Amino acid sequence: MNLKISSFAEYEQVYKQSVEQPEEFWAAIADNFQWKKKWDKVLDWNFTEPNVKWFDGAKLNITENCLDRHLDTLGDKPAIIWEPNDPNEDHRVLSYKQLHAKVCQFANVLKNNGVKKGDRICIYMPMLPELAIALLACARVGAIHSVVFGGFSAQSIADRINDATCSLVITADGGFRGAKDLPLKSVIDDALVQCQSVKRVIVLTRSRTPVAMIKGRDVWWEDEIKKVETQGNVDCPAEEMDAEDMMFILYTSGSTGKPKGVVHTCGGYMVYAGYTFANVFQYNPGEVYFCTADIGWITGHSYIVYGPLSQGATSLMFEGIPTYPDAGRFWDVVDKHKVNILYTAPTAIRSLMSFGDEPLKGKDLSSLTKLGSVGEPINEEAWHWYDEKIGKSNCPIVDTWWQTENGGILISPIAGVTPTKPGYATLPLPGVQPVLVDENGKEILGNGVSGNLCIKFPWPGIIRTTYGDHERCRQTYFATYPGMYFTGDGCLRDEDGYYRITGRVDDVLNVSGHRIGTAEVENAINMHATVVESAVVGYPHDIKGQGVYAFVVCPAKTDNEDLTRKDIMMTVQRIIGAIAKPDKIQFVSGLPKTRSGKIMRRILRKIAEGETSNLGDTSTLLDPGVVEEIKAGAL
Ligand code: WT7
Repeated sequence: MNLKISSFAEYEQVYKQSVEQPEEFWAAIADNFQWKKKWDKVLDWNFTEPNVKWFDGAKLNITENCLDRHLDTLGDKPAIIWEPNDPNEDHRVLSYKQLHAKVCQFANVLKNNGVKKGDRICIYMPMLPELAIALLACARVGAIHSVVFGGFSAQSIADRINDATCSLVITADGGFRGAKDLPLKSVIDDALVQCQSVKRVIVLTRSRTPVAMIKGRDVWWEDEIKKVETQGNVDCPAEEMDAEDMMFILYTSGSTGKPKGVVHTCGGYMVYAGYTFANVFQYNPGEVYFCTADIGWITGHSYIVYGPLSQGATSLMFEGIPTYPDAGRFWDVVDKHKVNILYTAPTAIRSLMSFGDEPLKGKDLSSLTKLGSVGEPINEEAWHWYDEKIGKSNCPIVDTWWQTENGGILISPIAGVTPTKPGYATLPLPGVQPVLVDENGKEILGNGVSGNLCIKFPWPGIIRTTYGDHERCRQTYFATYPGMYFTGDGCLRDEDGYYRITGRVDDVLNVSGHRIGTAEVENAINMHATVVESAVVGYPHDIKGQGVYAFVVCPAKTDNEDLTRKDIMMTVQRIIGAIAKPDKIQFVSGLPKTRSGKIMRRILRKIAEGETSNLGDTSTLLDPGVVEEIKAGAL
């Protein structure tokens, strides 16, 4: 079966088949990939344990699908185009042949450094081709990568390394992002003070900022490559993986506790990332595809590296940020590399929109044919700006809804094939069976309804477990509504049956498309010496989508509230990372609690939103007076 659907009628027919005969459907899709051995059984599942197995018994290596199988046909075609942070630095192009060679080389470096199948490897790197090479080299030798986004603190890295007992870290001396220098190796050094499992650190040269290279532990990427070259170790056969062998871990925040390691496995992830990339973006050979995400997030895993490369696409990787050196940078990149498909986030669109039309002047965007959005609900104003100013009303916009736990896109238009609707992720992709449920878990049927979004049947990219704690996986995703995967999102299904994701219904914030758990931020704030207690909620933010609003009980704060605020910010930056810093901190003498001691977040959310007139029933509060004080002091 062809991966790409070419008409709405075909979508309807394929969708129907995918629900009625899911195993036949997915087997036909999986036939488009290269397997060392085909599966014994397409699907084995229950959502109670949960236990989901796709393509069980099959053998494969995803890197053969992403690299080797293209060598004869696309060997000299660009696999990765890399655009640097500094527009004056040269860009780089890696053909499929070159990328293959570099992945094999670095896979041999990993082997020389003792890496074996199943080992966990932490990757903390800037957006360079070597980051993609590091991921692929891990997959080549069957090691499990755990990429940590460059915005996380040493403490967060240490927690992630220890949770997965990583034996090796791949990093760079430093990185460049906008006007900032990222001291990556130095952050890793701080993290490793707490990590006994790490025996080796491979350091790539990027900024050549001074770094402490520790004897016996730290080695330079370039030196290790030279060793492999002298050994004449050019090829590296791909490790044979079982379809359900663990492929990678990616940590993500939830409503409680520390971030959990979402686990994806080899076969299902490959099929799902590749299928959805080909289909949603309707990728045509030769097109230049630019996803602006960072590989530190799932979007970068699935739609910069594995999805596009598995389809022989040209994937453009950008080291910088949309506003450096000015707010025209994305458009310069599109113009310079004649980008055909642009996939970005609503927060970037809103931010660029705020600079007006000036940065667009003189930029040739006529190469663009398809646009995508991901990470958070896109407001209609941003949707129309994207459509008119960037797409010149001539490019379909795919508003792709999905999650780290999903491996790939679940609900989205298919570019140019199925209809779009501003603010709507529209229809489920083939194989995806969304349902809306009420608080009691009862399915809400019909159209023109809203509820909590669940998925009632597995797709190949679904989360398999949370690393080292399967019970947590069950509790978080499969226990709220038995028999279903619960997304944590609220959702509307309109009269036409189109889905519009309205945002999280749990205590998870979406700040600039990054998922942040309120409990995690509260724990970090509470670590500050003078803080007694805190409550964190989200509030609407023009650019970030949601901002972080912290109510903090801090009786011993000094006269200089501002200084205490800054100290609290620094504490959060140390414990989690700069991305979780509160936008607003309001000092309060107490939090609104019920008699049983539960914080009434509903009230705090309303106050943070600036909606103080209608706070609902406050009669169950232990001390209703505290609400008046909080209202009066709202920021
Ligand atoms: C949460 C997942 C995998 C995408 C990157 C974020 C929100 C994501 C959309 C969209 C409305 C969206 C949801 C979801 N979200 N895409 N197109 N429309 N909301 O991945 O960090 O795992 O976050 O992002 O709330 O649950 P993530």
